[in-house]
Amino acid sequence: MSEIKSIAVLTSGGDAPGMNAALRAVVRTGIYHNLKVYGVRKGFEGLLNGDLVEMSLRSVGDIIHRGGTILQTARSKEFTTEAGVEKAYTMAKIFGIDALIVIGGDGSFRGAKDLSQHGLNVVGIPGTIDNDIACTEYTLGYDTAMNTVLDAIDKIRDTSYSHERCSVLEVMGRDAGWIAINCGIAGGAEAIILPEKEFDIDKDIIMPIIEGRNRGKKHYLVIVAEGVGGAVEIAEYIEKKTEIITRATILGYIQRGGTPTITDRVMGSRMGSYAVDILLKGKRNRTVAVKDGKLVDYDMGEALKMTKTIDEDLIKLSKILAL
Ligand code: F6P
Repeated sequence: MSEIKSIAVLTSGGDAPGMNAALRAVVRTGIYHNLKVYGVRKGFEGLLNGDLVEMSLRSVGDIIHRGGTILQTARSKEFTTEAGVEKAYTMAKIFGIDALIVIGGDGSFRGAKDLSQHGLNVVGIPGTIDNDIACTEYTLGYDTAMNTVLDAIDKIRDTSYSHERCSVLEVMGRDAGWIAINCGIAGGAEAIILPEKEFDIDKDIIMPIIEGRNRGKKHYLVIVAEGVGGAVEIAEYIEKKTEIITRATILGYIQRGGTPTITDRVMGSRMGSYAVDILLKGKRNRTVAVKDGKLVDYDMGEALKMTKTIDEDLIKLSKILAL
């Protein structure tokens, strides 16, 4: 069996609903297999400062329904330096850590890879609302964030309908348009502007609104991904060109917090447990991922070289349904 006796787990980068479920699963699966499990507070920053606490079955009680991360998270400047990585590695050795599980986005995975190059065994669990990690079809927090956005769209639609207005909604996703395209389709948007596609404001936003008006539409929704940005300016331009009163809403951190959906709770639980299982099987430097709906794992270095492109069929569908 495995040589692993002691593991640590941290959450890093932007918080995402479902991180707590993954943490709980790591701790409970680890303890079930008689491992010592440390929780690292505040991501890699906490690791290099030795901010570790031994976890018990009870220390992850009452967290599965909570958004954010009870371990807290940080974007560490010091850890981006070679000296910082060395310090974190040394601290892991001082605590006798055989493997580190990192729950976070691809920036966090790059940090994990740096640590692996010093000799620490690492496993990544994809956690970010953006769904922008190339090796996986799913990242923790994505479903909850999309449901939050959809709830906002439905509320904004009530006002748009009542006043016959246009609404421009800017949603998160960093450089990716996954939240935007899905929420645009689910929310019945007239136009969805994505960072992956060049756009022409007259052709891609103004024309669908005017054509829609000519066909009898009374209110309009434009979704802008944050990777494109400029929701306020786009709203002003729409109002100027169409004379339809247009308001911009930037959802911001509303999308990052909140109670995780069942998908994020179950996915977090499965991924957390899977991460411990692959360590016990003797695997080194892997990342957990979803492929064709099933959990798989990839070499961390290979995973970071993968690319993923936005689904062209979804873009086509969004245009047909906006007619
Ligand atoms: O990665 C999650 C995310 O919320 C992105 O959508 C956004 O670009 C970024 O984090 C914001 O980061 P910060 O935590 O620095 O505000």
